[in-house]
Parts: sequence; structure tokens; C-alpha cells
Amino acid sequence: MPGIIRGPLRMGTSGTELDEVEIAELRKTSYNATVTHLSLPNERLMRVRIRLDDGVAENGPALHYEPGQYTTLGMGYWEPRVEGAQAETLNEKQLTKVVKRAYSISCRLLDDSDNVTPAGDEPELEFYIALVTEAEKPPALTPRIFLLKEGDRLHMGGKPKGVFTLGDVQPTDNILFAATGTGEAPHNAMASKLLAEGHQGKITSVTCVRYGADLGYTSEHEKLMAMFPNYRYLPLTTREAINRDESHPDYVGVRYVQDLLESEGVEEEIGFALNSPSTHVFLCGNPAMIGIPNRSADPSGRYPKPRGVVEILEGKGFKADEPKSPGNIHYEKYW
Ligand SMILES: Cc1cc2nc3c(=O)[nH]c(=O)nc-3n(C[C@H](O)[C@H](O)[C@H](O)COP(=O)(O)OP(=O)(O)OC[C@H]3O[C@@H](n4cnc5c(N)ncnc54)[C@H](O)[C@@H]3O)c2cc1C
Ligand SMILES: NC(=O)c1ccc[n+]([C@@H]2O[C@H](COP(=O)([O-])OP(=O)(O)OC[C@H]3O[C@@H](n4cnc5c(N)ncnc54)[C@H](OP(=O)(O)O)[C@@H]3O)[C@@H](O)[C@H]2O)c1
Repeated sequence: MPGIIRGPLRMGTSGTELDEVEIAELRKTSYNATVTHLSLPNERLMRVRIRLDDGVAENGPALHYEPGQYTTLGMGYWEPRVEGAQAETLNEKQLTKVVKRAYSISCRLLDDSDNVTPAGDEPELEFYIALVTEAEKPPALTPRIFLLKEGDRLHMGGKPKGVFTLGDVQPTDNILFAATGTGEAPHNAMASKLLAEGHQGKITSVTCVRYGADLGYTSEHEKLMAMFPNYRYLPLTTREAINRDESHPDYVGVRYVQDLLESEGVEEEIGFALNSPSTHVFLCGNPAMIGIPNRSADPSGRYPKPRGVVEILEGKGFKADEPKSPGNIHYEKYW
């Protein structure tokens, strides 16, 4: 694990530091949740379960979420950051504030007895988080989250939000989830709910990552495939030797979600025909993979470049779901 850069030591034009008593008080007044389980599939990827104090939301009722929704996590700027993270400069005022970001609620998929978990009312919420160390502006939250340990405290929003949910999906509909990286988080929660409720249509979850080691739920997906003949997990990589080294015996080339969807064998790989009336598609993660169209542009300029999944699927008869114009391609972009 990377080492620690002490936040307060890097702070402030005046060079002021907070002492342990001030930090303890800030944590007490700002944090409302505890880390109960934490694992790192690799040193830049975290699965973490968090319990809200007393299991109730900020304004009273027990925390319930619709699978696919997100909530916020937050930590104080006074907390340390992982070593190697792009340096940040904070003023004294910022130092006592909490930085919050949105996180899709993931799902552990299987409980300790290997039963599929019906997502929505778990006592602890699971999150799936990638460490960002470099960005346009210094990343504030993940370099702090990656120093958490079980038992540590942080802030969690008590009102899950978002319309990236199963909505009017019918029990016999086929469902394609496609994600980049941690974008599989809400798909795990939705798949878990569907499988627990005995969904009859086919469910295929595609996740595209740089390396196989960036897949944090492989063993659970494999168990689910063995348990449910209508469930399929299809990981794609883009930077393994099989993707980049033409002399590799198993060379397949770089495979983005777009490549899969445009390939001849796509229906065999995902396990069902891409005929839109009975199929719903959910896309989550990197906005460039999704390729959200600009509806106000003329038809020739409406899709962003490079080609995203929405353009490919709309070419096959699907339609992006938009506030005033429902469709069967649903999406959640992470930035
Ligand atoms: C609705 C919603 C749900 C989200 N759910 C998740 C989630 O489940 N897991 C998660 O890891 N992130 C998720 N994010 C992103 C998250 O909110 C943070 O932006 C991210 O964790 C980085 O936080 P930061 O403060 O360290 O850096 P920020 O300053 O917030 O981000 C800096 C840059 O990092 C890149 N980036 C952000 N998120 C990711 C990511 N997940 N993978 C790769 N690059 C990224 C982007 O280029 C972004 O501009 C979600 C965002 C939204 C809007
Ligand atoms: N995973 C790592 O080993 C690693 C290492 C260093 C830093 N980081 C940082 O960690 C954070 C998370 O990285 P991540 O790998 O989880 O997320 P990511 O950068 O979004 O990549 C996830 C997958 O999406 C693919 N992708 C990129 N652009 C795409 C597009 N236009 N259409 C379709 N697919 C596309 C990537 O392929 P490409 O191979 O083309 O990128 C990769 O396979 C980022 O801030 C990153 O800078 C990660």
C-alpha cells in the first residue's frame, strides 16, 4: 500500500496545522458511518462496506435504496492522503470542510452462505471504488478513502438518489449491463435484485477493464453463473498481452465494449439477440464509452467522437432514455 501524506502538514498558506483534539472533534461532528469490511482486489481498487449509525437515514426512516442508485461518501480535508497522489493546496477554511463525492451502491452479490443477496435493504452498503491519483484538478477524496481501515469513520449520505434503476423492466426482458471499471457497481446491485426475485429473462453483465486484475467480483460472478443459467458475466480487457501482443498465442486484440457490440459474434457472446423491444441496456462508467448524444445538434453531429455505445445501439434500433423521451438504453456517467 502507498504510504501517507499527512493532510494537515501540507495545508494552508499560513502553515497552520490542526491538532489531534481539533481533528477528533471534527470527526465527531462530521462523520455518521463506520467501515465494517474492506478489501483491496488490487492496490488501486477497493470493495468497502459501510454502516450508517443506527442503521437509519439522516432524517429518520431506515435506509432503503433502489438498486442502481448512488449516495455520497465524504471525508474531511484534514485527513491524510496516499503517498504519490497529485499534491493539493488548501486554504485554512477548506481544511475543516468535508469533501463529498457520489458513489453507486454496489452489492456483495453473495452472502457468507453463498445465497444471492436481494439488494436494497442491506444493513451495510457496499461500494466499489477506484483510486484516482492524477486528474485535471488534484483528486480530493479517493486518496483519503484509500487509507481507511475497518472500524474507521466517515460520512455517508442517508438519502440514495438517481433514476438509473430497473424501472419498468419486465420479468421476461433480456438485460445487458455494460460498464467500464467500477461502473459495474450499480449493475451488481441490479443483477442481484433480479436474480433474487427469479428474473426469467437473460442477464449479461459486461465489464471492460485495463487488466484482469482490475476485476473485483470475478469469483462471485462465476458462482452466480453456476447457480443461474440465465446469468452471464463477460469481462473484457484492453491492456493485457492478449490485447496488445500480436505474437501471443491467445491474441484477441483490444476489446472495448463498442468492439464487442459491433462484432459479428456479439449475440452468441452475450447469449441473446439484440432485438430492442424486449431488451434493456444499462451503461455505466467512463462517459466516452457511453457516448451520450447531444439531442439539440443536427442528426449528423449528435454523437460524440470517438464512437460510443449509444451510437452503435441506436443504429440497431435502441433508443437512449432521456427525461422527456423514454428509451431502453439507460446510463450513468461517472465524470
Ligand atoms: C452518479 C455517480 C456515481 C459514481 N459512482 C462511483 C463508483 O461507484 N465508484 C467509483 O470509483 N467512482 C464513482 N464515481 C466517481 C466519484 O464520484 C469520484 O469522482 C471518484 O471517486 C474520484 O474522486 P476524487 O475526489 O478522488 O477525484 P475527482 O476530482 O472527483 O475526479 C477526478 C477525475 O478522476 C477520473 N475518475 C473519476 N471517477 C473515476 C472512476 N470511477 N474510474 C476511473 N476514473 C475516474 C475522472 O477523470 C475525474 O475527472 C461516481 C460518480 C457519479 C457522478
Ligand atoms: N487500472 C490501473 O492499472 C491504473 C493505473 C494507473 C492509474 N489508474 C487510474 O485509476 C483510475 C481508474 O482507472 P480504471 O482503469 O479503473 O478506469 P478507466 O481509465 O475508465 O478504464 C476502464 C476501461 O475503460 C476503457 N476505456 C477507456 N476509454 C474508453 C472509451 N472511449 N470507450 C470504451 N472504453 C474505454 C479503458 O481502456 P484503455 O486501456 O484504453 O484505457 C479500460 O479498459 C483512473 O483515474 C486512472 O487514471 C489506473
